[in-house]
Amino acid sequence: MILVGVSLSVLVLAGCKPIPPPTPLAQLNEQQAHGHDVFQSHCGSCHNDRRNGALNGPSLRGTFKKEYLPSGAPANDERVVSTIRFGRGMMPPMAGTMDSGDLDDLMAYLHTL
Ligand code: HEC
Repeated sequence: MILVGVSLSVLVLAGCKPIPPPTPLAQLNEQQAHGHDVFQSHCGSCHNDRRNGALNGPSLRGTFKKEYLPSGAPANDERVVSTIRFGRGMMPPMAGTMDSGDLDDLMAYLHTL
């Protein structure tokens, strides 16, 4: 208990608030659940979604609960959609790999992380 208190205050002092956990998979609506499937087939090989820690790319846990993306760009839909469409650095452009319905569902899922 004391240890938990101490580490929480360290986080707060460091100005890095603990972010709330992702919505449990069992509580996702139909669109978000389909977005989870799209994530697993298109993104999961390079990104963690439900836990921290980088794979090929940074973890996407809490993407929209933070102010900035790992690159320092603002964490908003526009930036994330364009990263998915056009790629970034070692991340390939993925515009051609999914239709706009899949992209919308994926975005709905990313908002639950
Ligand atoms: C082949 C591996 C790979 C795949 C597949 C991939 N990514 Fe990435 N992603 C990366 C890498 C590497 C980076 C870091 C790019 C950089 O900043 O140089 C990245 C960065 C990102 C970022 C952060 C951008 C920023 O501005 O910091 C987001 C958001 C992202 N990816 C989302 C996704 C989503 C959503 C998918 C699935 C549609 C996906 N990625 C698929 C490798 C991948």
